[in-house]
Amino acid sequence: MPAEREVLLNEELAQDIYKMVVYSPRIARAARAGQFILLMVEDRGERVPMTLVDWDKERGTIEMAYQAVGATTVKMSMMKPGERLYYLAGPLGQPSRVKLFGRVVIVGGGVGIPAIYPIARELKRLGNYVVSIIGARTSTLITYEDRIREVSDEVHITTDDGSRGLKGYTVDALKRLLDSGERFDAAWAVGPALMMKSISEAAAGRIPVSYSSLNSLMVCGVGMCGACRITVGGQIKLTCVDGPEFDSYSISWNELAIRLRTYRKEEMISLETMRSVGRV
Ligand SMILES: Cc1cc2nc3c(=O)[nH]c(=O)nc-3n(C[C@H](O)[C@H](O)[C@H](O)COP(=O)(O)OP(=O)(O)OC[C@H]3O[C@@H](n4cnc5c(N)ncnc54)[C@H](O)[C@@H]3O)c2cc1C
Ligand code: FES
Repeated sequence: MPAEREVLLNEELAQDIYKMVVYSPRIARAARAGQFILLMVEDRGERVPMTLVDWDKERGTIEMAYQAVGATTVKMSMMKPGERLYYLAGPLGQPSRVKLFGRVVIVGGGVGIPAIYPIARELKRLGNYVVSIIGARTSTLITYEDRIREVSDEVHITTDDGSRGLKGYTVDALKRLLDSGERFDAAWAVGPALMMKSISEAAAGRIPVSYSSLNSLMVCGVGMCGACRITVGGQIKLTCVDGPEFDSYSISWNELAIRLRTYRKEEMISLETMRSVGRV
C-alpha cells in the first residue's frame, strides 16, 4: 500500500509538461470537476495550486498535469515515484457549475488542455453535446487529446505555427464555428488569461453562459491572505474559495493581468537562486 502523498507516477508528456499521479484516497473520494489542490514539494518551498485533472476513488489516486515554469514546478518535475510530497491539501475551490445546457463548447489552451478533461467528461455525462477546442503553440504541446476525444462529440485543434489543425489561436476556431452558424448554450475556457479573455469577448452576445477558470496567484488557498482577489461583477471575490471558475462576462480581465505580473521579478530570482545553489 502506498503512503499518503506518495508519487506513483511522474512522466513528461511534452516539453516541460508533466503528468503526476499521487496517492491520496481522501482527496480522490471528494474530488469534483473544476477543483484544485495545493501542494508543497519540500518544507522550505511554496504552496502551489494545481487543477485536479482526474481521480480514482477505488485506487485512491489523483492526477495532475503541470508545466515546469518556475522553482516549485521544476523541483516537482524532478520527483521520482516512491518520493512523497511534503504537503497536499484539497479538494479546494468550488466545483464547475455543470448541468444539462444542450450544446456546450469547452476551450483549453496550452497547459489548460488537461484541465478541461474532467469538466468535459462531466458535461458529457449529463447529456450535453460537447465541442472541445484545444490549442497550443505547436503540435507536440497538445496533450490529453485521446482522453478529451473520449468525452467530446467534436474536437477542434489549433496550433500557433500551423503544425496541426487550424493555424491560429483557439479563439479563431471558436469564431469560425460561430460564424458558420453553430449555436452554443454555454462556453468554458481554461488556459492563459489572455486566451480566456479573448474567448469571453468572442462569446459575448452569442453564447448566453460563459465560465473561465482563473489562474490567480495564490498564497494560502483558503481565503485568509487575499492574494488571489479579483473583481467579478463589481464585487471582490477570492479565486481560492469563491472560484476558481467565474462568469467570464463579469471578470475584470485587466486587473487579473496586472495581478499575475506582480511577482514576476521575485519568481525569476527564486528560480535563478535555486539553480545557482544546485537545488534544481
Ligand atoms: C486554481 C489554479 C489551478 C492551477 N492549475 C494548474 C495546473 O493544472 N497545471 C499547471 O501547470 N499550472 C497550474 N496553475 C498555475 C501554477 O500554480 C503555477 O504555474 C505555479 O504556481 C508556478 O509555481 P513555480 O514556483 O513553479 O513558478 P513561479 O516561480 O511562481 O512562476 C514562474 C512563472 O509562472 C508564472 N505563474 C506563476 N503562477 C502562475 C499562475 N497561477 N498562473 C499563471 N502563471 C503563473 C509566473 O508569472 C512566472 O512567469 C494553477 C493555478 C491556479 C490558481
Ligand atoms: S490564496 Fe489566500 S485568500 Fe486566496
